[in-house]
Amino acid sequence: MAGASRIIAASRARSARSPSSSCPLTMSSLFPSADPFADPFTLELQRIRGLIEVNQLRQAAQALNEAQKNAPTDARVPLLGMRLAERANNPNAAIQAARKALKLEPNWHVAQIELALLLSKQQQGDEAMQLAMQALAATPHEIKVMVGAINVALFSERYEQTRTWAEEGIRRFPQDAGIQLFLARFLAMQGEYSDARTHYEAVHARMPRQPEALKGLVSCALNEHDNEQARHWADRLLGLYPQDEDARYWHALAHGQTPLTQPAQVVTSIFDGYAPAFDAHLVNSLQYRVPRRVAEILNAKHPDRRFNLLDLGCGTGQVGAYLGRIEGHMIGVDLSEKMIEQAARLGLYSRFHRVNVLDALRDTPADHYEAITCTDVLIYVGDLTPVIPNALRILKPGGHFVFSCERAGEDEPDLVLREASNRYAHKASAVERLCRAAGFDEVVIEDLPMLRMEGGAPLPGFLVTARKPLAA
Ligand SMILES: C[S@@+](CC[C@H](N)C(=O)[O-])C[C@H]1O[C@@H](n2cnc3c(N)ncnc32)[C@H](O)[C@@H]1O
Repeated sequence: MAGASRIIAASRARSARSPSSSCPLTMSSLFPSADPFADPFTLELQRIRGLIEVNQLRQAAQALNEAQKNAPTDARVPLLGMRLAERANNPNAAIQAARKALKLEPNWHVAQIELALLLSKQQQGDEAMQLAMQALAATPHEIKVMVGAINVALFSERYEQTRTWAEEGIRRFPQDAGIQLFLARFLAMQGEYSDARTHYEAVHARMPRQPEALKGLVSCALNEHDNEQARHWADRLLGLYPQDEDARYWHALAHGQTPLTQPAQVVTSIFDGYAPAFDAHLVNSLQYRVPRRVAEILNAKHPDRRFNLLDLGCGTGQVGAYLGRIEGHMIGVDLSEKMIEQAARLGLYSRFHRVNVLDALRDTPADHYEAITCTDVLIYVGDLTPVIPNALRILKPGGHFVFSCERAGEDEPDLVLREASNRYAHKASAVERLCRAAGFDEVVIEDLPMLRMEGGAPLPGFLVTARKPLAA
C-alpha cells in the first residue's frame, strides 16, 4: 500500500457507530455530596463511599455490614451496597441492593434513578423507563434526576424518549449547557444534522470557545455537504486551539484532506461514554462475536495456555474474557480510561497501559510476545503502515498477530474512511500485502460476513492471523 496516496480523499464528518454509542450525559452522583457538618452516621456513609471510590472494596464491605446492623432501615446503606457491587462488577447484586433500598424508601428518587440506570444497562428497559418516569414526575426540578432519566432512556435505546427528555431538560434547566450539548451530539449521532446544528449553535452563542460545539458544527456542516461552513467553523476552532490534535483533525477534514488516523480525543470521547453499556450493547444487540473467535484461534495455537498476550485496544477486555486465565501475562492497551476500568474488573489482565496503540507498538521492545490481538480497533487507527511491521518486530518468532478489519471492496482504495460511520475500512488484499512485505510468513484471512450488525444489516469484515517466521 502506498500509504496516504492510496487513501480516499474525502471530507468526513464524525458520527459514531450507532446512536447508542452517543456518550451519556455526565452526571455528578445523585448521592448527597460530602457534608462535614453531617451527623456521625452520615459521615460514616460518606467515608464508606470514599472507600468504594478508591476501590478499597473489602474495607467498604466490612464497614457497610456494620452500618447495616446499626441502621437496618436506612435506605442509603443498601444503595451504597449497590455502588459496591457495581464496582465489584456484579450487576445482579447491584440491582438487588438497589431494589432493597427502594423497598425501604419506595418514593426516594435517588434509588429510583440508580435502579433505573442499572436496569437500563442490563437490557431491562421497560422497568427502567417506568422508574425514571416516576422519579421525574416526583422530582421535576432536580437536574440530576433529569440527567439520570435521559441516560436511562439512552441506555434503554429509547431514542425518541431520549430526545424528548433532553428537550424538556433544556426548557427546565436553561442555565445548563450540558444537556443542550448532549442533545446536539445525540442528534448528530442519529444523523439529524440540521437539528443538531441548531443546538450546537445555541451552545456556541453562549460559550464561543466551547470546543465540542465548534467540532460539532464542523461535523454537521460536513455531513450536510456545506463545505464553506465547515471550513468557517474549522478555521475558528483551529484559531482557538492551534495545538489541539482534534482541532487539526477537523480542520484537515474540513479542508478536504484525509487524516491518517483518528485523534485520541475522538476515540476517547466515543468510548469513555460508551464503556458502561459496551458489552451489553455490542454483544447482545449488535451480535459482535469477534473476540470469541479470536480466543478460539489462540486456544488452538496455545493448547497449554502458556503465552504472553498484548491486547491492543483491549476495550472492556472481551478477548481476555473469552480466553480466560492464561499461563502468561495479558497486557491491555487502550486510550479509554473507562474501557480499561471495565476490563480491569475481570481480574485477568496483568496490567494496562493507557496509550495509543501506535505508541505502544513503537515503544515495545522486540521479541516480546507470543500473541498480539487487535479486534475492532484498526477501524479507528486507520493507516496500518506503522502497525504491521512493529507488530512483527515485537512478536517472538512463531508468534501471531490476530486482528480484525472492516472490509473495503477490492475495487476501492486500500484504506477508506467511511463517510457514514467515520471509521476506516481496509482492503483485504492490501492488508495481506502489507503483512507479507513486513515479513510475516503465514497470513490467513478469514472472511467475516458479519463483524456485527449496523443499522439493521450485517457489517462485513475479515480477521487476519499473521505468523512471524520461526527462525529469522
Ligand atoms: C470497538 S472497541 C473494541 C474493544 C475490544 N478490542 C473488543 O473487541 O471488544 C475499540 C477500542 O479501541 C480503543 N482504541 C481505538 N483507537 C485506539 C488507539 N489509537 N489507541 C488505543 N486504543 C484505541 C477504544 O478506546 C476502544 O476501547
